[in-house]
Amino acid sequence: MLQKIGFYLSFLINGVTKNNINSPIIDELTEYVLDPKINYYAFIGIEHYRKILLKNQSEIILYDLGEGSKTIKNKKTNIGALTKNVQSSALKGQLIFRLINFYKRKNILEIGTSLGITTAYLSNGNKNGKVTTIEGDPTIYELAKQNFQKLGLQNVAIYNKSFDNSLPEFLKNKYDLIFFDGNHSKDATLKYFNWALESHHSDAIFIFDDIYWSLEMKQAWLEICSNPKTILSINIFSLGIVFLSKNTEKKHINLIHNCNFY
Ligand SMILES: C[S@@+](CC[C@H](N)C(=O)[O-])C[C@H]1O[C@@H](n2cnc3c(N)ncnc32)[C@H](O)[C@@H]1O
Repeated sequence: MLQKIGFYLSFLINGVTKNNINSPIIDELTEYVLDPKINYYAFIGIEHYRKILLKNQSEIILYDLGEGSKTIKNKKTNIGALTKNVQSSALKGQLIFRLINFYKRKNILEIGTSLGITTAYLSNGNKNGKVTTIEGDPTIYELAKQNFQKLGLQNVAIYNKSFDNSLPEFLKNKYDLIFFDGNHSKDATLKYFNWALESHHSDAIFIFDDIYWSLEMKQAWLEICSNPKTILSINIFSLGIVFLSKNTEKKHINLIHNCNFY
């Protein structure tokens, strides 16, 4: 916790608000993605389903996939605890939904499904799009598949694979948005980012979760920002957003906004 406070203070020192930066991209992002608080019907259904999962005390045994959760230390947990501790928050899911919707993303890859609550936001962000999501834990994969059925998601394909073994093959497809949210180590994050860069077209958007999860993840984020192919990187503290092209000169922005706490 203390480390996170320190990270936030250093983020603030280099941060700007939308009012003290003259940037049409930030104006657009705040107006259409970060500021709106509209409750779409889909949000109500997804959050109702999250509440059901939160109450579910059925036990599950987690498979060892490297960097796990900071709050779940045992292999044995239950669905409610996994929902509480591992799923992205409602506000974060809704922010990503609006981003997909506003930037008209059609072919989306999620690296790290867990129980699939955020996948439901990715799916509803553009019902005419297609979401591919990868989960390595076989038990969680089965649960996510059931959740997609119960949530009626028609445009999601889930795969039970390890990222390291499967990503090079998946990345032969052209995704226009990739959500990196699994295996939070510096080496893995940079490896997946570099694989994605090799095969991606110039208008893709990459979203990185948990960029302040650890010192390693912060270092990974800084390397991602300094990569010459990262044209615009927007750090909203709760997420890092990379535009491979936004018709602009190379720029990095730490944006101070309520969404820093999502
Ligand atoms: C943080 S959770 C994903 C959360 C989800 N995207 C959300 O927003 O709610 C990361 C998931 O990635 C899976 N995972 C971690 N490392 C993996 C690996 N190397 N290969 C495949 N799956 C992995 C874990 O089992 C876990 O369910």
